[in-house]
Amino acid sequence: MASPAPAPHTLADFALAAEQALDAATWAYFNGGAGDEATLHANAAAWQALPLWPRVLQPLAGGHTRVALAGHELAHPILLAPVAHQRLAHPDGEWASALAAAAQGAGYVLGTQSNVPMEQVAEAVLADPGRGPLWFQLYWQADRGFNRALVQRAEAAGFEAIVLTVDAPVQGVRDRERRAGFALPPGVHAVHLQDAPAVPPADGTYCAGLPAHAPTWDDVAWLRAQTRLPVWLKGLLHPADARAAQALGVAGLIVSNHGGRTLDTAPATAQALPRVRAAAGDALPLVVDGGIRRGTDVLKAIALGANAVMVGRPVAHALAAGGALGVARMLRLLRDELEMAMALTGCRTLAEAGAHLLDPATAAVWEQAGPR
Ligand code: FNR
Ligand code: LAC
Repeated sequence: MASPAPAPHTLADFALAAEQALDAATWAYFNGGAGDEATLHANAAAWQALPLWPRVLQPLAGGHTRVALAGHELAHPILLAPVAHQRLAHPDGEWASALAAAAQGAGYVLGTQSNVPMEQVAEAVLADPGRGPLWFQLYWQADRGFNRALVQRAEAAGFEAIVLTVDAPVQGVRDRERRAGFALPPGVHAVHLQDAPAVPPADGTYCAGLPAHAPTWDDVAWLRAQTRLPVWLKGLLHPADARAAQALGVAGLIVSNHGGRTLDTAPATAQALPRVRAAAGDALPLVVDGGIRRGTDVLKAIALGANAVMVGRPVAHALAAGGALGVARMLRLLRDELEMAMALTGCRTLAEAGAHLLDPATAAVWEQAGPR
């Protein structure tokens, strides 16, 4: 008898297990990126390439991973990113990943293109006192009334923020996915979009007119007026866009290039994050995603100015490898790695994870700040 595969010990182990569990086309959908996948690879490579400069002999007693995010205290700074069509990875789909997030105190962002209705997801997690925030990701639909209905439905179900994705006016050039001949199998649907009104003919002349229905800054202002929930924007990289978003009073930004799935050769998020932080000032909550696979990556993101991070593909990998338990274990591994990275760099709390970890030239400034 073949011996059972060893339990995954890293997020990369989960990716290997998922590749074995999924058919080639589904794997291409979950793991592929746009074009030559330059941005997809740059995301992970950029975190890895940043050296961490450890401080030694720091007092570490009473250390913890807690962070404040938009007025909420989180047990740790890791959220699950919206990932469409999770029933492709496991029959329990988004229900399972949301349950695992709640069990691990992680925030959860449910995608518009979920295969499980938002009410079912909310019901599974809202009563858990240890859960993180529960947010709904909105893919802007051509019909404003339908957007309003989706947002009101999320409000009624108990979701706590709306995350408008702004980096995908059209889908990217998904070469790996197309080569693999990926198509949604029967029975897997974007359940929230089944009643969406037909898209009216567009007047655009490129990309089959699709961009004519994409959201604009005016729509962000409109959306804010439709809901009492905080509105976040996901998918900004440019400092000028960060300032524009801030001027409209958004609750926070998710610095993201969609995991390299939309514009290929867009900058790695580790490059964009410090520029966005510099443009936005200290107060605006920032979450970053893209290529975060290690506790050291999480620590570097915090040191570069993020308040929290999200992981995308690891959700699909862990779901495919082990359902809800797999996702819970994946989160636990990442959190344990973060704790070790903190201890090994001399950070008792994430508030102490400053620029000095990445650039010793700033250490002098840090030392002047006096005993912590
Ligand atoms: C995504 N992402 C995404 N984003 C979004 O706003 N709405 C969505 O429905 C989806 N769907 C989706 C499906 C799949 C298969 C992937 C891999 C990604 C992007 C996601 O939220 C996140 O930004 C990236 O996945 C982060 O990069 P990593 O962690 O996958 O490297
Ligand atoms: C994707 C879309 C659904 O990245 O966001 O697959």
